[in-house]
Amino acid sequence: MNSSLPPLDGLEVLSARLLEQLRERFQGAAFDETVFGEAECLPGQAERARLPIMRWLLERRQAPWAGFARLFVYHMPVTPEEMRDLMGEELASALAGAGLFMPCANAPDQLRSRLRIMPFRGLWCLGDLADGGGDAVMTPGITTLQLAWLMPLDMAGSVLDLGCGSGALALLAAARGAPRAVGCDLNARAVRMARFNARLNGLDAEFLAGDMYAPVLGRRFDLVVSQPPYVILPAGTQPVAYLHGGPRGEDLVLRALQGLGQALAPGAMAAILADTPLPVQEHLTARYRRALGEARLDLAIALSPAPPLEPTAFTYSQVVDESLGERYQAEVARYLEHLSGLDTPGFRHAAILVRAPALGVSRPALSMSFPVAGFGQSVGRSVEAFFASVDLSAVPADRLLATTVRLNPLGRWSLDMDGPVLPPDAPRKLRFQGGALAVDQSLPEATCFLLHCLADSADVASGLATYAQACSASLDQIEHQALDFLRHALRSGILEPQPAPDGG
Ligand SMILES: C[S@@+](CC[C@H](N)C(=O)[O-])C[C@H]1O[C@@H](n2cnc3c(N)ncnc32)[C@H](O)[C@@H]1O
Repeated sequence: MNSSLPPLDGLEVLSARLLEQLRERFQGAAFDETVFGEAECLPGQAERARLPIMRWLLERRQAPWAGFARLFVYHMPVTPEEMRDLMGEELASALAGAGLFMPCANAPDQLRSRLRIMPFRGLWCLGDLADGGGDAVMTPGITTLQLAWLMPLDMAGSVLDLGCGSGALALLAAARGAPRAVGCDLNARAVRMARFNARLNGLDAEFLAGDMYAPVLGRRFDLVVSQPPYVILPAGTQPVAYLHGGPRGEDLVLRALQGLGQALAPGAMAAILADTPLPVQEHLTARYRRALGEARLDLAIALSPAPPLEPTAFTYSQVVDESLGERYQAEVARYLEHLSGLDTPGFRHAAILVRAPALGVSRPALSMSFPVAGFGQSVGRSVEAFFASVDLSAVPADRLLATTVRLNPLGRWSLDMDGPVLPPDAPRKLRFQGGALAVDQSLPEATCFLLHCLADSADVASGLATYAQACSASLDQIEHQALDFLRHALRSGILEPQPAPDGG
């Protein structure tokens, strides 16, 4: 363990009553992540140059949430009086006694927090400052939030948070009703932090130390979420547990995929988030499919643009030298050198979605990737709808004919016109908004009409009848080909099953 990291022993023996008081103080102060806004999406890993702006703004806000944000998110000094106003005498002195605060070097009458506490979806997660080095534990950031958006709002099954860090995702699962929420991390400090966070939030979750799936070998889960360390590791850079995933940044991502066959229960899903280098020789889906091995699992990769490489180098180099001095500059050079030697046409920010077939489903596994504009809050709904569509694509024809389908609600029709007159057979474009798991399509007019017939009818059978009649054909003549197209449209996310009126 990195000996320069603050000890946790004092915090670990704080009573449940005091932790409940702290939680109530946070709640009462509305200390939640919305206060940080879009501009400050990765506190601590954000451009150091931007931090003074956040600090300047926070110094001018009198609200209690701003006091907590100064103290626990932005590493700013507060006076002992402010501390007492925020937390009350008993709590402030208990936290001080637990070693959470230290005097400021240039203002010894003021205190800073030695650890960070980040609000996250109604929870609060203790972790290390981002520049803590080696075994520092990451607090939830924007990428943790992206994974949270992929998780169902009500969770009835078991959840594994692989590489749990502060335990944020396992705790969120527990808060959303998961009867069994487990987090694993190689870093023993992360496991201690996550156990503390379970107590801080009054939630029940199990946290285990060990390499990848080793602590839960033989157990299966209904949902696996993971954001393995995925940052490239240049030669000469000191590895940081929460950041680095080998020279290409993909070592842990591939290992997370390799274990899924053993970890997913029937019908279960995994969501793995990573910045990933595009391979040169093969398609990314082929590479990840290989990592999944023999297991018959659906693989759908949502790919959004990753941040440009140079700013990424700046961001990760700040971790070694907050002052942006000589060590920072040497580190930036190491990253850029390493990036220039990497065999990849570029990086993508990927949500790798893997699904185990439900019991009794015996269709071939799906492998595909989608470009998406970003991972907004709507992606979670899209994922559920997408896998429901894929399942439907594999049912026998008689069941398909009795189903009601509709166009993906995030799809929009448009016409590509070269000139003022539209040729009669000009393809229509079906474009999907950010958050949709579907590929933009260019479709001939007849196919568009078939889609409309299918999506606007009470069931597929009557949609096909309408289409056949319009084509002056018999149902028999068109059915086979039309059902093939319907299956393709379901697998591509163009069409989806119509949800029951109650949303179930
Ligand atoms: C990017 S952080 C994610 C933390 C947290 N899940 C989140 O989203 O905020 C990656 C985590 O994986 C852990 N980790 C690194 N190597 C690991 C391994 N071989 N097995 C298990 N966990 C590992 C790190 O310690 C770190 O906590």
